[in-house]
Amino acid sequence: MRKPHRLLLLTTLLALPLSSQADPSPERGRYLLQIAGCNDCHTAGYLLAPDKTPEQAWLLGDTLGWSGPWGTTYASNLRLILPRLSEEQWLQLARQAAYRPPMPNHALRIMEEDDLRSIHRFVVQLGAAGQPAPAALAPGQTPAGPAVLVPAPPAP
Ligand code: HEC
Repeated sequence: MRKPHRLLLLTTLLALPLSSQADPSPERGRYLLQIAGCNDCHTAGYLLAPDKTPEQAWLLGDTLGWSGPWGTTYASNLRLILPRLSEEQWLQLARQAAYRPPMPNHALRIMEEDDLRSIHRFVVQLGAAGQPAPAALAPGQTPAGPAVLVPAPPAP
């Protein structure tokens, strides 16, 4: 009588972590955005004070520029972009990510579908807010505001 019970308990315990990881959810999206470092660039001030940056200020983009051989780029306001995309459109965009540096395109391209869906659901839940980030500048143009200067990689 006792053995089948133990077996059932064991299989239930083994199945739990797998199933909870696979289900897309806003909570998982919230977690992923933090551990994948998305807030570090897409949320002003987050890199230096993650604990003091309220969730409502997350992913609104940044006016801090990133200047390098590609010109100057600004981390986009994802709160204006993701809620306007369907989950399927977001998956497609992520699979084809080819933005200028320092955007880690590879992270988006290899992210599991359920993780991408979770991120989308969380950002939709956060809601559209804020202004678009400043437009990118061509190489040679001087940014008006503060910018991180990234040197060109050394010649091979
Ligand atoms: C090191 C800084 C940095 C990190 C980390 C980062 N991004 Fe970005 N991201 C950028 C910059 C800068 C751009 C704008 C690139 C351009 O203008 O070509 C960008 C652009 C994007 C875009 C394109 C939006 C548009 O304008 O259409 C998406 C989507 C995006 N990031 C999502 C993410 C997600 C999701 C993460 C976390 C996995 C992330 N980013 C992490 C800097 C970053």
